[in-house]
Amino acid sequence: MKNLQGLLEHQLRDLYSAEGQYAEILPKMVAAASDSKLKAMFTDHLKQTKSQQDRVRQLLEDIDVKPGGVKCEAMAGLIKECQGMIDEDTTAAVKDAGLIAEAQRCEHYEISGYGTATKYAMTLGHDDMVEVLDAILDEESRFDEELNDLAIQEINQKAV
Ligand SMILES: [Fe+2]
Repeated sequence: MKNLQGLLEHQLRDLYSAEGQYAEILPKMVAAASDSKLKAMFTDHLKQTKSQQDRVRQLLEDIDVKPGGVKCEAMAGLIKECQGMIDEDTTAAVKDAGLIAEAQRCEHYEISGYGTATKYAMTLGHDDMVEVLDAILDEESRFDEELNDLAIQEINQKAV
């Protein structure tokens, strides 16, 4: 990484890995969730996550960078925490609230990564890339807000 373009490529490869890891744990989160709305939200986000990973791969291919070969260690740690909550021996409502908390941690990590990558792409004048990254950033933010709303309006109260 010798310049901003190198840093951008690193960010994108990291996000590609993060999306792939998240796509592997989400089906288990669907299975572990009890609330039907939460199950549906995780199911939708699994589809979205796969599409996001495809779009990031396309962005990398467009600039002749191989997508694989980088493992996002931060997401690996977050996924371990998700797995811990999936395995937790507790009530349905507490597990749902805990799953939301872990998913929001993952979302915030992604929001940070896409935010940084979008700004790098802007500075480098990669306008088409900015559009794609901005759209993904919006999806992540929306999902984070939906999780927040469900927790505050229903799940946290049930977990009391
Ligand atoms: Fe994502």
